[in-house]
Amino acid sequence: MAKNPIPRRAAAQQLASLRAAGVTRVSRSTRVQSVPPAPSRGTTNASHGTDAAPLRGSTSAATRESAEPSLFQPNRSGLSRSEREERLRAVAARVALCTRCQDLAAARTQTVFGVGNPEAEIMFVGEAPGADEDRQGEPFVGAAGQLLNRILEASKLNRSDVYICNILRCRPPGNRNPLPDEAANCREYLDAQIELVDPAYIVCLGSVAAKNLLGLADSIGKLRVRIFQYGRAKVVCTYHPAYLLRNPAAKKDVWDDMKFLMRDRGIDLSSK
Ligand code: URA
Ligand code: URA
Repeated sequence: MAKNPIPRRAAAQQLASLRAAGVTRVSRSTRVQSVPPAPSRGTTNASHGTDAAPLRGSTSAATRESAEPSLFQPNRSGLSRSEREERLRAVAARVALCTRCQDLAAARTQTVFGVGNPEAEIMFVGEAPGADEDRQGEPFVGAAGQLLNRILEASKLNRSDVYICNILRCRPPGNRNPLPDEAANCREYLDAQIELVDPAYIVCLGSVAAKNLLGLADSIGKLRVRIFQYGRAKVVCTYHPAYLLRNPAAKKDVWDDMKFLMRDRGIDLSSK
């Protein structure tokens, strides 16, 4: 395990993360606040597979032992756009200071919180930041992000219509898959983003997102073209854009999955 990052580097990291998350003022108390490491546990959400079961009650945040107030507050529907923005910024500020995963915190340039419309109807959840995202502080800005942009465009969506985030908010070294403890440590933040944005649909991009959000280890081939439920959101699963870069033949399936989602929303894209 790496020791805590040296203070100068950590301070620069935090400022970059906060700036990327839209935080322009940092109070003294925010700056020194730190989040205690979460107790070790396996992947969250043991509840498997039922297409309708709300999973939210079983998430880690609900049971987290922490001196800090939980970020997980149910019944937040009805928040105004500015209230959502403000609360998302507050969560991002905590994420920027997070050292629950010491190795990730020591290696990151900055945290990568999430981007997009705080009132988005559709939220996309990827895996974890890569090198480009770590550098820029925004999810899906590298090659996979360019492809995601094209998928959105084809679906008549703008990046600014949707909300985009990841299972992890720090880049895993060498872009390895998130470890179960890392995903568990970051789950409170993901759940807070889902609660605040309160999307009607969540799109899991790839099997890491599906496995961690839904607790389903099946391949995307098995999970796609089905509707799952996570709290108030319908969830669909499709291939990760990075997978599409390696397997372009699967682009057709992703397009079918977007049409499937949009049809569920009452929008017919098939004339395109
Ligand atoms: N891949 C992901 O899963 N997320 C990103 O933000 C970028 C690439
Ligand atoms: N495996 C993944 O992790 N993601 C995909 O999208 C497809 C296969």
